[in-house]
Amino acid sequence: MELKAIIFDLDGVVCSTDEYHYLAWKSLSDELGIYFDREINNRLRGVSRMDSLDIILERSEKLYTPEEKQELATVKNGRYVELLQSLTPENVLEGIPEFLAACRESGIKTAIASASKNAPFIIHKLNLENKFDYIADAASVEKSKPAPDIFLAAAEGLGIEPEHCIGIEDAKAGIEAIHAAGMKAVGIGSADTLNEADLLVSETKALEFKKITEFFVK
Ligand code: BG6
Ligand code: MG
Repeated sequence: MELKAIIFDLDGVVCSTDEYHYLAWKSLSDELGIYFDREINNRLRGVSRMDSLDIILERSEKLYTPEEKQELATVKNGRYVELLQSLTPENVLEGIPEFLAACRESGIKTAIASASKNAPFIIHKLNLENKFDYIADAASVEKSKPAPDIFLAAAEGLGIEPEHCIGIEDAKAGIEAIHAAGMKAVGIGSADTLNEADLLVSETKALEFKKITEFFVK
């Protein structure tokens, strides 16, 4: 089987915007008087905005209407987008520019499959627009990770069958999504949460193009 494309998650793989998500959710939950910490924030990795809000509201005594929840999500996103303004190309995680360059040199297509509706803006701030061949649209997929939808949308956008793709993820829900899409999964992080990955590397700077392509053909 030939490797034709590598599909990247964004948060935790290309950059670390999870801290900004944390700060934005934290200021909202403090205002609402709901307990929220970094451990709960870890449960939000790869999870859509509304599903993240539902996780935060598990600790709320008050029940919120769908309209109120929509409003809360909008407030959080406003604060998150404000924090994103400070992103620069310096925030691209170590090893990613070299890895993307090696993909291009070898004719392997690249795409972003992120749950974030802010993905195009983040890619723009990181000055990576010309480095990816496609950015899948989180707003137009039906189900978020661990469903395969966003990875399938990325493969379709590239015009490549899923069995010729590798997905790279830092979240358990993301590894499940990659497998559900029929792709091989590379995990970035530790075996505690990513034990289902087909290949695990501890951090992005350990992503070696040769190692990844060799693993695929095995
Ligand atoms: C994912 C993050 O990339 O995007 C989640 O890991 C986040 O934490 C999700 O909730 C949705 O992001 P956004 O930008 O659409 O609110
Ligand atoms: Mg992620």
